[in-house]
Amino acid sequence: MAAIQHNLRLATAADLPAMTDVLNAASRQDPIYPYRFPDRHLYPSEYALLCQQKCTEYLASSTVVVCEMPSATEAGAMRVIAFAVWDTPASHHRVQTGTGKLEPLPSRRPPSLGVPITIGHKDRMDAFKSACVRYKASFFDAKYKRGHVMLRILLCHPDYQRRGAGRALTEWGIQEAQRLGLHTTVFASPMGLRLYTKLGFTEIGRFRVEVEGDQEHLEIPALVLSPTAGVWETARRATCGMVTGPAGAYNGASSTICA
Ligand SMILES: CC(C)(COP(=O)(O)OP(=O)(O)OC[C@H]1O[C@@H](n2cnc3c(N)ncnc32)[C@H](O)[C@@H]1OP(=O)(O)O)[C@@H](O)C(=O)NCCC(=O)NCCS
Repeated sequence: MAAIQHNLRLATAADLPAMTDVLNAASRQDPIYPYRFPDRHLYPSEYALLCQQKCTEYLASSTVVVCEMPSATEAGAMRVIAFAVWDTPASHHRVQTGTGKLEPLPSRRPPSLGVPITIGHKDRMDAFKSACVRYKASFFDAKYKRGHVMLRILLCHPDYQRRGAGRALTEWGIQEAQRLGLHTTVFASPMGLRLYTKLGFTEIGRFRVEVEGDQEHLEIPALVLSPTAGVWETARRATCGMVTGPAGAYNGASSTICA
């Protein structure tokens, strides 16, 4: 079994260009992007700008973890080749002093880049957004009243896939959820579904995104992993011979993963 050195750490603003590249390159493999941006290949610079705007938004509003691996083109250099965007209960709330209750934080949505983005299919974008809000509420929020740790985005650059980055980034969030005693949740793409199933997630339902009169639609599975999914931990130890620490231990630390 070959081992590949990788590094997971929390993202900083300096990671924006690399994250934008990863989103731009990997998004075509996840049907939710071609569905909403069918003409993106006709307007590459505008799509790149949209990717930059999205990544700026993730950095401002969520917990972003990046995965670096040795660059394939530059000897000795590390390159951000994948990232995950996680929403934890703490992402949108702060603990009130005195009562200890959670209160919602004001929106931290960054200002737009000032360039109009016109390449999206507006009706599909609206349908996708409202379906995600509705089904996140019914599949996850209503069920897990104490909150859950949700994987919003997971992307690995196509040149670096099947080397363990997606798994390592997902395990980061699983460990964070287990530390908090919460479920890990995700709406999966077809490629993501294979990874999450392998890690022990269970599908609890699916929803459809469609626009009246439109031939195309999306079908999106909702998956969860219990905080007590001991099988995951046992299987991981058996496979890799590596015991991972609490989520924070990953920051800036190198570790060896199975490939
Ligand atoms: C999903 C994605 C992030 C996985 O990243 P990755 O770094 O290639 O994943 P890993 O190398 O950690 O894969 C771990 C396991 O997942 C499964 N898996 C991942 N990609 C797979 C694929 N294309 N086909 C079959 N199984 C796959 C395999 O079981 C794999 O283990 P193995 O390589 O030992 O067989 C990546 O394919 C991607 O960016 N896809 C496009 C965007 C997307 O769909 N993101 C998910 C949104 S929910």
